[in-house]
Amino acid sequence: MSVKESLKFVQRWIFHPKQMGTFLPLPSKVGRILVSSLPTLSESDYILEIGSGTGALTKFLYHNPKLSKNLICAEIDSELCKILNKKFPDAKIINKSAADLDLTLDQSLLNRIKIIVSSVPFTCINQDSKDKIMKICSQLLNNGASMFHISYNPYLNLNLSSYGIKQIYKKRIFSIPMVFLHSYMSLR
Ligand SMILES: C[S@@+](CC[C@H](N)C(=O)[O-])C[C@H]1O[C@@H](n2cnc3c(N)ncnc32)[C@H](O)[C@@H]1O
Repeated sequence: MSVKESLKFVQRWIFHPKQMGTFLPLPSKVGRILVSSLPTLSESDYILEIGSGTGALTKFLYHNPKLSKNLICAEIDSELCKILNKKFPDAKIINKSAADLDLTLDQSLLNRIKIIVSSVPFTCINQDSKDKIMKICSQLLNNGASMFHISYNPYLNLNLSSYGIKQIYKKRIFSIPMVFLHSYMSLR
């Protein structure tokens, strides 16, 4: 990640601290561990990343030959979307809240999403957005997707069962500060 991109990240955090959740992009180590934890996809399957930021995790999804190139990134910040569009020209970059994805993507595409990668700061965003995002994720999980959420917080207070979701595991990734990889599946 270039210095310019890191400065842009800090700038967006100054303007929208709750939306950004943190002032630093995630370390590369997290991207490597995330990718090694993902299930294999077929060519027609899609990956949905929500909260892509400047692409710290996206680059590992986009450039991994084992993963499908069918990558959809939902990022609420238009300035960050400009960076994502430049860096990942073949990905579908959506400048919308992940809470509105059901209105943005058609059902046939939603049905093909098999992996959700999230680093949306659930502990900072408002309850309504959190509910909407979790409901959309729950629908995708019911369709057979797996969800991986990255957070600095080991306790997300997401009330998973109310969305029909359960946690499969929580992996600690040693970095400063410590990062947690939460993995979820549908209860159904
Ligand atoms: C903690 S940063 C993670 C950024 C990046 N994935 C990384 O690894 O550095 C959270 C990102 O989620 C985005 N975000 C926050 N709320 C969102 C929402 N409702 N929909 C989509 N993106 C959102 C922020 O703009 C920010 O880029």
